[in-house]
Amino acid sequence: MGFSRRLQRKKLYKKSLIGFYDKQQHFEERFKSALTSGDLKLATNEAHTLKGLSATLGMMSLHEQAKSLESACKENSDNIETTLNPLLKELNKVLDGLICLKDPNISNTKITWSDDYSVGDKKIDQQHKKIISFINTLVEHSEERISSEIIVDTLDELMKYASEHLEYEEKRLTELKYPELNEHIKHHQHYLETITEFNISASNNDTKSLNKLIRFLTQWWSEHILHEDMKYKPLVQSNIEY
Ligand SMILES: [Fe+2]
Ligand SMILES: [Fe+2]
Repeated sequence: MGFSRRLQRKKLYKKSLIGFYDKQQHFEERFKSALTSGDLKLATNEAHTLKGLSATLGMMSLHEQAKSLESACKENSDNIETTLNPLLKELNKVLDGLICLKDPNISNTKITWSDDYSVGDKKIDQQHKKIISFINTLVEHSEERISSEIIVDTLDELMKYASEHLEYEEKRLTELKYPELNEHIKHHQHYLETITEFNISASNNDTKSLNKLIRFLTQWWSEHILHEDMKYKPLVQSNIEY
């Protein structure tokens, strides 16, 4: 195959992956709202689409899980919930890996705070700003060895501070009786699991692992604040004490 055709196919594949990311990042929301409203046909269609797309893109374990979910929906069986949970875990993993394709420049770029990042709560905004500043320090020093003092110290502080923030946020959302709390906690748990895996692989001291970790942190935090945390903004704002 000629070089330009290979390049063309690569570009097309990348475009399809980005399309998959854009649409399927909201799969959980769509699927659950179909279930809640008792629209089993819509839920089946969602599973069916995911099954087809994942097969086309070579995501075979996700494909198998979507296939089981589609069958469970068709049979209206009690297995829907038990089939859904591992599928969501796998889907989140796939989506995390795809974020960098959406905006490759994001990987080496610092996050610039703007009002778009504000979730309407001063304390949480302050915490997010501090997390972002730790991440920006890592981006600034991303060419250094992972064992360098600045990297080790910043990573340590970030890990500690970020877990405290997640805990605080969950506590605050519990107080406010946030209806999507369980979903939100799942996103946090997924982050903590991923970061633990990254930390282990980054400890073998190569710059490539460090850059992967920094890219994940940059992407996860900006996406999470802008899309997930933002969902609780109206609730937080309606509870502001003046
Ligand atoms: Fe959050
Ligand atoms: Fe947050």
